[in-house]
Amino acid sequence: MDQKTFDNYVLNTYSRFPITIVKGQGMSVWDDKGREYIDFFPGFGAGNLGHCHPKVVAALHRQIDEIIHVPNVYYNNAQGELAKRIVENTFDGQVFFCNSGAEANEGAIKLIRKRNPSKKTIITLKDSFHGRTIAAVTATGQPVYHDGFDPLPGGFEYCEANNIAMLEKMMNASVAAIMFEPVLGEGGIVPITPEFMRAARELCNHYDALMVLDEVQSGIGRTGKLFAYQHYDVVPDLLTMAKSLGGGVPIGAFVVKREHCHILQPGNHGSTFGGNPLACSAGIAVLQAIADENLLENATEMGQYLWEKLEGLKAKYAVIKEIRGIGLMLGVVLSVPGADIVKQCLKKRVLLNCTHKTVLRLMPAINVTKYKINRLVKVLDQALETYLTWGA
Ligand SMILES: Cc1ncc(COP(=O)(O)O)c(C=O)c1O
Repeated sequence: MDQKTFDNYVLNTYSRFPITIVKGQGMSVWDDKGREYIDFFPGFGAGNLGHCHPKVVAALHRQIDEIIHVPNVYYNNAQGELAKRIVENTFDGQVFFCNSGAEANEGAIKLIRKRNPSKKTIITLKDSFHGRTIAAVTATGQPVYHDGFDPLPGGFEYCEANNIAMLEKMMNASVAAIMFEPVLGEGGIVPITPEFMRAARELCNHYDALMVLDEVQSGIGRTGKLFAYQHYDVVPDLLTMAKSLGGGVPIGAFVVKREHCHILQPGNHGSTFGGNPLACSAGIAVLQAIADENLLENATEMGQYLWEKLEGLKAKYAVIKEIRGIGLMLGVVLSVPGADIVKQCLKKRVLLNCTHKTVLRLMPAINVTKYKINRLVKVLDQALETYLTWGA
């Protein structure tokens, strides 16, 4: 279909680059003209295994031949198996399945509210991102996402990331939860400090509040651990995930500590497609591939390699102010808008993302090789050179 016809029929809620992607394999995608691109931001954070990983494809084929959908009033083995694997890889508890990150956070918010209705406040972080549903967008600490959607639900307050003094001031007995990303993704790849993480845990313990971590973007091996919180000395009460868990198939989930599992009872929450066998068999394949192919180790090693290469570019270009992130969740902080650099890279058939206006977001598949990283760094080098010489 030509892009004009597409635009006529699809609601215009995204700014799109003028390419139509028709095929993907590993780190590459192809457009409808047969041109290949190397994808350093696969699936907008949903491509930790790259495109069409063979184990995910095989699992989907197997599942499609059996049954595609099972309503949640019956048992389905794939859902149980994926829940078991998530719990075994996090902490003792139970899993609720849904279809997206926003829904995972929405479910977490409902659980928080129901646990103790007299506790009215949920603290989240400024510059956070938790999704587009009405509660998740209110949890999101960025006014730009709130504009135009009044009245928003009450009960959300926003603390500066890594500002322990501010968090301490905001905490009291009416706080039901603190909810944040261990690495702010959309907010510009900002890792939470170990000190803030510990303070949040201690304050939650002290005030009987839940510590909720949103790992929709940082989870599933992205940072070199299955979940980014595992770099820290804390365990949350509730952990939300989505994006890469399905290897490209829509899925969302949260895991909650066993002591809080009684809060949501039959009828309190649900989702027609949540825990769908197709999505869950993809999820099982994703976790299996990460283990079988030592991808956590690769994410750590390649993250280090990419970081060093980016430091090399920083030494060359004064417009690069900082490299930050964990593992293969890296941000290149610029003193100029990043959108033009992204456009330059696209012309050279490398896909990446700019977030928070000036941060290039690099989140390649966690099975990335040095060869592909070298290619990215060369293209980035050329893009920066062109931008500084000629402008956008
Ligand atoms: C940290 C975080 N939470 C939640 C979401 C929302 O996820 P979804 O778009 O699947 O609803 C995102 C999406 O970018 C995210 O990065």
